[in-house]
Amino acid sequence: MSNILNYDYDNKKRFLILSTENLQRIQGLTGIVISGFYQLHFVNVIIGSHFREAGFDGLRDLFRQIYQNKFIEPIILGSIGIHLGVNAYLILKRRKYNQELYEKDINSTISAKMPTPYGLYQLSSIFISAFIFTHVSAVRLPILFNPNHTVGFSGIYYTLKSWPLIFYPYYFLFSSSMIYHWIFSYWRICCRAFNISNHRAIEYQSKSSWYKVYGVGALMSTSALLALGGKYFRVLPPFGLGNMNLLQFAKSMFNK
Ligand code: HEM
Repeated sequence: MSNILNYDYDNKKRFLILSTENLQRIQGLTGIVISGFYQLHFVNVIIGSHFREAGFDGLRDLFRQIYQNKFIEPIILGSIGIHLGVNAYLILKRRKYNQELYEKDINSTISAKMPTPYGLYQLSSIFISAFIFTHVSAVRLPILFNPNHTVGFSGIYYTLKSWPLIFYPYYFLFSSSMIYHWIFSYWRICCRAFNISNHRAIEYQSKSSWYKVYGVGALMSTSALLALGGKYFRVLPPFGLGNMNLLQFAKSMFNK
């Protein structure tokens, strides 16, 4: 406790609980909880989507028994909230000290704005932070007003079919960023576990491999979206949803 109340002089009058080391520890722990959930969600979205509605919704119903358990779901959603809060704090801190939003590759011959592998990780966290609140609100908030609300293959298909210019880029950036974020986090956790201190240099030397990791995640996300968008097989439009604008659609989720 006294540690918590002591000032962190390295970090200029910041309480130790907000020291970078502590925040990284909190990010690590909450990140492990989120990735536990995301591994199931990844199988559901990326693999299940290729097996039509039955595959996608079947896996969702199976995994739901775990992540929508009344004790587990608050832990997952709480971890997401804390992870995002710490992330926002770190971004604001960087801005306060006039640091770049993400780490750039100054030796890049293509463009001075190309991110390093760690910079891509920072960028992915910005995309995920921007999208996750809307996503969780869309899939979980309406349940408070409409107990029958559920989102599955046909609901995602409807959004892709009705507003492709919004939903293809949104799901694509969200999903590909999350896959990169997930793999890079595990690499960093391994570096800590095996005391690899020169990880920044290793990452930089293998930067093209890290771009490929993003590329593979991007390809997997694209293929899942083509399946969900009905490009691989015929999908029946969801029952009872006619032509709506986005606002009407959002409102309809809250109607019983
Ligand atoms: C193409 C991308 C994605 C699609 C199509 C998608 C689809 C869905 C669907 C259908 C649900 C409802 C599941 C259910 O009711 O059981 C859901 C829930 C959820 N998704 Fe996604 N998702 C995507 C990406 C992501 C990503 C990248 C994350 C990041 C962690 C994420 C986090 C969540 C969370 C936290 C929930 C709520 C889980 C719960 O508490 O029940 N999703 N998503």
